[in-house]
Amino acid sequence: MSRMTVNDRPIEFLMDPETPLLWALRDAANLTGTKYGCGNGDCGSCVVHIDGEPLRSCLVTIAEAEGRFIKTIEGLSGDRMHPVQQAMVAEQAIQCGFCTPGIVMAAAALINRNPDASESEIREAIPNICRCGVYPRLVRAIQRAGRVARRQERISAAPSPGISAEDAAAEVPALSVPEEGTRREQ
Ligand code: FES
Ligand code: FES
Repeated sequence: MSRMTVNDRPIEFLMDPETPLLWALRDAANLTGTKYGCGNGDCGSCVVHIDGEPLRSCLVTIAEAEGRFIKTIEGLSGDRMHPVQQAMVAEQAIQCGFCTPGIVMAAAALINRNPDASESEIREAIPNICRCGVYPRLVRAIQRAGRVARRQERISAAPSPGISAEDAAAEVPALSVPEEGTRREQ
């Protein structure tokens, strides 16, 4: 078993310790916001924060995540009002959206450590692959998010999605039965 804290909750995965964290999050914890793109560490769609660092969860086993603090896109902001989320919507930097959770998590970590990143710093910090090609808008969105984080700008709130992240996740059936692989402590 592997114990860690996911989105501020203690969680215990009763799975093979070599299971990639991405699989455990999606298939056992039903946190399907984190996306499975390549499974090889190439695309970045699976980025989550591990002790605050943006890491590709397909390359981290649950044994390696033992005792760590994991944050997924579902835990980034309860009301989806993180500056990166606001700016991504405002700049229309989302097309199909498959790459978006990984990009948002990578961008949120960048804004945390450098809210005034240059275009080259953004491109270096966020090498995520987007097949829809939103890169120019993405740079604008991340720079705008930085201005919001520095309180130099405000973005009018996007319309409420009308469902909590937790309820939205609950409506997506897990690929395996959660009780078999996971035990959550409230
Ligand atoms: S699924 Fe992890 S980098 Fe592509
Ligand atoms: S918005 Fe479609 S893959 Fe990036």
